[in-house]
Amino acid sequence: MLDPVMAEAHIRVHTLDMAEASSSFDWGKELPRLVGPRLDLHPLRPCDARAVFEIFGDPKVAEYWSSPAMEDLAEAVALIDEVQRCFDARLLFQWGLCLRETDELIGTCTLCKLDHPNRHAELGFALNRKYWGQGLAMEAVALLVDFAFEKLDLHRLEADVDPNNAASLALLEKLGFQREGYLRERWHIHGGVHDAVLLGLLRHERPGAGSQ
Ligand SMILES: CC(C)(COP(=O)(O)OP(=O)(O)OC[C@H]1O[C@@H](n2cnc3c(N)ncnc32)[C@H](O)[C@@H]1OP(=O)(O)O)[C@@H](O)C(=O)NCCC(=O)NCCS
Repeated sequence: MLDPVMAEAHIRVHTLDMAEASSSFDWGKELPRLVGPRLDLHPLRPCDARAVFEIFGDPKVAEYWSSPAMEDLAEAVALIDEVQRCFDARLLFQWGLCLRETDELIGTCTLCKLDHPNRHAELGFALNRKYWGQGLAMEAVALLVDFAFEKLDLHRLEADVDPNNAASLALLEKLGFQREGYLRERWHIHGGVHDAVLLGLLRHERPGAGSQ
């Protein structure tokens, strides 16, 4: 459900003290690369605009997203700019998912609402429809979860998912997320009003985690 550049982040970027928003992790100049068996997660580049448009211009990808499908390439260009701006302000961290074999950009995944004092954040993810069903989203989100717990030292991760978004719910639950709440009529989008399932994962509940 999470939009990669939420209206909220857009407002906060102008108002929040950067020190308040940033974590003690040293982000450096750009997002760190996260590498899995098939995927290389790295910062979005201006040359990714067409691939970003292919992802977020697809109504099937946007079906359970909190903003409508993109209508033209300019929106993808603007999104990449905004993602960089939000990263510079340490408000939103959105990686491009690239196939290691071809360097093709096939999706994005995001950490946002990073609350460092309380050690939690929200995550989101989307994949080009051509690549659904191959375990690639699972690989990407697992890398992001590891990064959030191990490098950012977070205690809790959250996700906000449409109750009909079976793929996202399955993916998150396979990673150990638990359903914690049901919010009725939370999103006004796509000409209707939609409920949301809130899920959470605590660092010590991760499959394979010892007592931490
Ligand atoms: C959510 C999304 C990224 C999942 O991509 P995907 O390629 O299907 O994911 P994966 O192949 O990694 O599958 C992850 C798990 O979910 C399961 N799954 C996938 N689609 C499913 C479906 N429609 N119903 C039930 N389970 C499903 C898979 O079986 C897999 O489990 P397994 O490894 O045990 O087989 C993709 O559907 C997408 O981009 N959707 C649009 C954007 C979106 O809704 N993002 C989430 C916002 S919160």
